[in-house]
Amino acid sequence: MKIALLGFGTVGRGVDQIISERVPDVEVARILELPDRLTDPRMTSSYDDIVADPEIGLVVECMGGVEPARTYIMAALEAGKHVVTSNKAVVAAHFAEFAAASAASGAGLYIEASVGGGIPWIASVEKVRRIDEVTSFSGIMNGTTNYIVDAMRREGADFFEVLAEAQRLGYAERDPSADIDGIDVANKTIISASVAFDVACEKDLPVTGIRNLRKSDLDLLAGCGRTAKLLGRGVCRDGRYAAAVEPVAVSLDSLEASVPSNFNLVTLDATTVGELRFYGQGAGSLPTGNAIVQDVLDCVRGVRRPAYDFSRGLAWDPELLRSDHVFRTEATIPGSEPFAPGAVVARDVTAAEARALLDAALEVDPTTFMAALA
Ligand code: HSE
Repeated sequence: MKIALLGFGTVGRGVDQIISERVPDVEVARILELPDRLTDPRMTSSYDDIVADPEIGLVVECMGGVEPARTYIMAALEAGKHVVTSNKAVVAAHFAEFAAASAASGAGLYIEASVGGGIPWIASVEKVRRIDEVTSFSGIMNGTTNYIVDAMRREGADFFEVLAEAQRLGYAERDPSADIDGIDVANKTIISASVAFDVACEKDLPVTGIRNLRKSDLDLLAGCGRTAKLLGRGVCRDGRYAAAVEPVAVSLDSLEASVPSNFNLVTLDATTVGELRFYGQGAGSLPTGNAIVQDVLDCVRGVRRPAYDFSRGLAWDPELLRSDHVFRTEATIPGSEPFAPGAVVARDVTAAEARALLDAALEVDPTTFMAALA
């Protein structure tokens, strides 16, 4: 089959390399690029050249961002062309719209690479859902922030120095604030909750990143047998669900604490299969390219055709995600008690309440760091 790539950055180049070296039955025939970057005879800067080409049966969108990615994906689906995308921002924002367009035209919608890089997470959740209810998921879903925390812990490196290295390695988003402020994980959590719980997930979930994490915070947590990891989490029970993104002070004995470099670890709990854990590289050209090519092959070889149905009618209930939260701050946290020198703990608050406490503390002390206690 002839396919087109929309975007030729870190991910697009990985897809092109894997297909040209390892997948003889698929040809990258066209590549959409900016007018000043047309360095390959397959490249065009006109999307019409691609969407109107009857020989192109599948479009791989790896441009990133919401527009024009949304417009291009909708045009491809409406034209009956299958879509494979790694773009978590556009899927999180328009998942239900894409699913409806896919169902209407019969064109496939494949989103594996949007969460967890090279890990076959989405396809596995879909498989689990054929039999089970997913009752919760939780995971390290951002390679950049895991890389940062890991390097800070192991090398005692400075936050922004390590971030620059993650950017150089092609892990970070074009605007790395999406990584360090938890927005990238929020998009992946929305997508994961949508697939795991069969719901068009609430987009206004509590989100806190690791921008204010300092080496001294890791030292403080280490003194309590813990370290910090940025986790996306979702819970579903009794017709209700909740999701949140926040740093979590996990036990040093946990698998999460041991996850190195740009690796991700995502865990789910489901009715009959119980706990499943998925581990692999969560960012980078070839791992993410691999997830895209797996979707391309599932489509081209007729192995798998996802069908997303968000009509289950679950209610959003932030009360489902409650835990103690530690704050390192000079501000006063109402109702808190001492935790360690320089830190206090607010007991049994929801992720949304903790985010509100953090917002108030940041007004007084802009360096405040917060983490949930696992
Ligand atoms: N910036 C993302 C990450 C890329 O670091 O995980 C993969 O989604």
